[in-house]
Amino acid sequence: MNERIAILIGDITRQHVDAIVNAANSSLLGGGGVDGAIHRAAGPELLEECRRIGGCPTGETRLTRGYRLPATWVIHTVGPVWRGGQHGEDELLASCYRNSLALAVQHGIRTIAFPAISTGVYGFPMAPAAHIAVREVNDFLEHDPSIERVVFVCYSQEAYKAYEAELNKPE
Ligand code: APR
Repeated sequence: MNERIAILIGDITRQHVDAIVNAANSSLLGGGGVDGAIHRAAGPELLEECRRIGGCPTGETRLTRGYRLPATWVIHTVGPVWRGGQHGEDELLASCYRNSLALAVQHGIRTIAFPAISTGVYGFPMAPAAHIAVREVNDFLEHDPSIERVVFVCYSQEAYKAYEAELNKPE
């Protein structure tokens, strides 16, 4: 598996990378889960910048500064709500990863940390979500040398095991 990809169990708000990815909602006005943690750690300026952006459709991404976070940037993306798997959820989740990496390259971002997008409040099953995440990141890195390091930041042992299983699959 690609040596530029790493997984760890931890808090994404503590990661010293160029950009962390936020699993936001379409309003971009904050919420619970990782969205809440990122806004708490970044401080009120983050919400002020998000307000000026005015929202983000599912599957797309928006860039803001990281303010009080160790990360310079936050890439906000809106994952799909799991509705049983027959409503384009897989493709929307895949586009969250692809669009986040494309936005990173556009801004010269070289190290990026992802949470397990949509696997919390939005209910996407962990194993298929990890499969999509690892597949999309790996495909992107195969065609783009500019991203130096992608870290999947897992918030539970269950998530870590799902990502580890995907990373250890034979090519
Ligand atoms: N660091 C890393 N991962 C985290 C953190 C953290 N500090 N906090 C939570 N997570 C993990 C969760 O355990 C889950 O695996 O992030 C993953 C995504 O879960 P959510 O944060 O619930 O995000 P999501 O499922 O995409 O739902 C998005 O939740 O918080 C609201 O405003 C957000 O409405 C949006 C919805």
